[in-house]
Amino acid sequence: MEILTTLQAIKDYAAQAKKQGKSIGLVPTMGALHEGHLTLMREARAKCDIVIASVFVNPTQFGPNEDYDAYPRQFAADCEKLESVNVDAVFHPEPAEMYPEGYCTYVNVEGDITHKLCGAQRPGHFRGVATVVTKLINLARADEAFFGQKDAQQVTVIRRFVEDLNINVHINMVPIAREENGLARSSRNTYLSPAEKEAALVLSRSLKAAKAAFANGEREISALEHIVTEELHKEPMANIDYVKAYAYPSLKPLTEASEDTLLAIAVKIGKTRLIDNVILSA
Ligand code: PAJ
Repeated sequence: MEILTTLQAIKDYAAQAKKQGKSIGLVPTMGALHEGHLTLMREARAKCDIVIASVFVNPTQFGPNEDYDAYPRQFAADCEKLESVNVDAVFHPEPAEMYPEGYCTYVNVEGDITHKLCGAQRPGHFRGVATVVTKLINLARADEAFFGQKDAQQVTVIRRFVEDLNINVHINMVPIAREENGLARSSRNTYLSPAEKEAALVLSRSLKAAKAAFANGEREISALEHIVTEELHKEPMANIDYVKAYAYPSLKPLTEASEDTLLAIAVKIGKTRLIDNVILSA
């Protein structure tokens, strides 16, 4: 596997692949890789001739009081995992390579889709995500890019700016990878103590309860949100940031649930903020 750390190195690598007529799949990550990330790699591997992963803890998407400094960095272990799923190249730049002195251009997705859910809790977050993803797609000259449903709102935002800015890439969304106990896999799970990890199971449990109610005919949004909230309240270590249902992928408000309804939650377990979601289906 090639390790690319400079803009020039990834540009040359992508140019070479294009010259050979190969399709390029990009999987952007912030590292501390787990099975969820590897699912995206496998999808990319199956669909594209060349798979480029990126491992970059992107400073512009973290708020001043968020965990940028504490975010887990384990590049050597990440490389082993990427090699195990036959990724061709990993792009791992320093922040100064991506944001050199004088850098001042940002992709700002305006309007409703960035103001709700995580956008309301994390001002500036999606501006940072949209900026870095635009840069990564351009650098890798990606034909396909792969993102997880774990961050369902992120996928909506990325699809929006790709369409609005006429970027020539196809965005793929991959289902959430979970541990056997239901916990959605996340790099931030490494922050959890054993007791917190146990408590964190309440996230997927609460969504499962709402899904079961939906399957039994419950269609009222407030009732479904209430089921999730009630379940979360049973866990003393859980502090709710939001419990919300929206139409997916538009993120428009709803009064009645349908099979395209996203039920999304953000919950603090101790100091760790975790997110999870389901898209309801009968
Ligand atoms: P990160 O949190 O590292 O996630 C990278 C990708 O892996 C995202 O598309 C995310 O949705 C996906 N992912 C994470 N956990 C998953 C799971 N349990 N199942 C399926 N997919 C999962 O998201 C980011 O990084 C950043 O915002 C990034 C897009 C890289 C821009 O900096």
